[in-house]
Amino acid sequence: MDFTLTEDQLAVREAARDFAQNVLLPGVIERDRDMKYPTEEVRQMGELGFLGMFIDEKYGGAGMDTMSYALAMEEISKVDASCSVIMSVNNSLVCWGIEEFGSEEQKQKYLPRLTSGEWIGSFCLSEPEAGSDATAQKTTAEDKGDHYLINGVKNWITNGGTSKLHIVFAQTHPELGHKGINAFLVETDWEGVEIGPKEDKMGIRASDTHSIMYTNVKVPKENRIGEDGFGFKFAMKVLAAGRLGIASQALGIAAGAYERAVEYAKVRTSFGKPIGQHQAIAFKLAAMATEIEAARLLVYRTAWMKDNHMDITVASSMAKLMAADVAMKHTTEAVQIHGGYGYVKEYHVERLMRDAKITQIYEGTSEIQHIVISRAILKGQLYQPMFK
Ligand code: CAA
Repeated sequence: MDFTLTEDQLAVREAARDFAQNVLLPGVIERDRDMKYPTEEVRQMGELGFLGMFIDEKYGGAGMDTMSYALAMEEISKVDASCSVIMSVNNSLVCWGIEEFGSEEQKQKYLPRLTSGEWIGSFCLSEPEAGSDATAQKTTAEDKGDHYLINGVKNWITNGGTSKLHIVFAQTHPELGHKGINAFLVETDWEGVEIGPKEDKMGIRASDTHSIMYTNVKVPKENRIGEDGFGFKFAMKVLAAGRLGIASQALGIAAGAYERAVEYAKVRTSFGKPIGQHQAIAFKLAAMATEIEAARLLVYRTAWMKDNHMDITVASSMAKLMAADVAMKHTTEAVQIHGGYGYVKEYHVERLMRDAKITQIYEGTSEIQHIVISRAILKGQLYQPMFK
């Protein structure tokens, strides 16, 4: 077993670290406070290749491996989880979904714009009454021959106010249940697409999250992804990849808080010595380092599995479940180590703690990850792909 990163992977990590420290860090507190979408920062992410990292170069992607993506996500999330969710949704849910399951025409038309950052994409699955129960789609797509008519409402849509392309899930054949759902590529300037108000969130406040209304939106037939009725399977397959992105994000949030806690523990003194010399703090740092490293192993192994064309459904659920819990637990510990300073914005760890919470909720709550993992255990599938 070889855990060494390649020269290329190390270079990507270094580039992402530089970008995070030099470009993202200076304005991160203000963007969070003002819920200001990072327009210029996202433009630069596109220039650096961070918006289509593992997409083929022939579609404008950076043609890198999944491991490089996980490393870049981790570095960017250490500093700005709002930017990393924009990056994760665009890379994993939108670009990868189109590259893996779209038609050649769809790939050529949309991927170059999405990978360059000229356009940002959204994944419109959740509805007011279809969150964890994703099969309960109320949005409809009526088949009108050469086009579909889409009507419905979507909730909690990341990039909702800025994206130019939506992947919209809608029910075409209600009598078939989840087998009647389709996924469509919908351009946001088409008639009938209305962007709802921006959500005022606890964390990832610089990312824009909106509800979206679709009223009689006319979608050409060639914008359906895959065969009639493929939509739900498409959502599940794409989410398995997306969960690796969020697992990397959670890992980065945890690691960012940990690094700040270590630095603080070395310089802050109490009772005549640096607080890191007190066992109460030293043991916290040891637990943080160990559990973050365990999460990192799950995340990196899942990336490695994807690069080796293995099924990552269970692995990405495990990585997300573990990394999200580690992020929540250890950002809270980082605030504790900082004491009163941790409770104010200037020291960054309170933002990381607020940002951590969403990783236990979006792209499948931790409870949903337990469902995915436990079903695989009971079907006897769990260990096969990992040790094959
Ligand atoms: N790959 C392929 N097919 C899959 C699959 C997978 N990973 N998982 C399920 N399926 C298939 C099943 O085989 C089944 O097909 P058949 O009927 O042909 O056998 C079908 O999908 C239905 O599966 P289930 O019976 O398991 O469906 P379920 O209703 O029990 O739900 C679930 C399964 C795992 C709970 C699913 O509903 C789920 O993942 N829910 C969470 C939704 C979610 O993650 N939402 C996130 C929103 S997007 C977001 O957050 C993005 C953002 O902006 C940040």
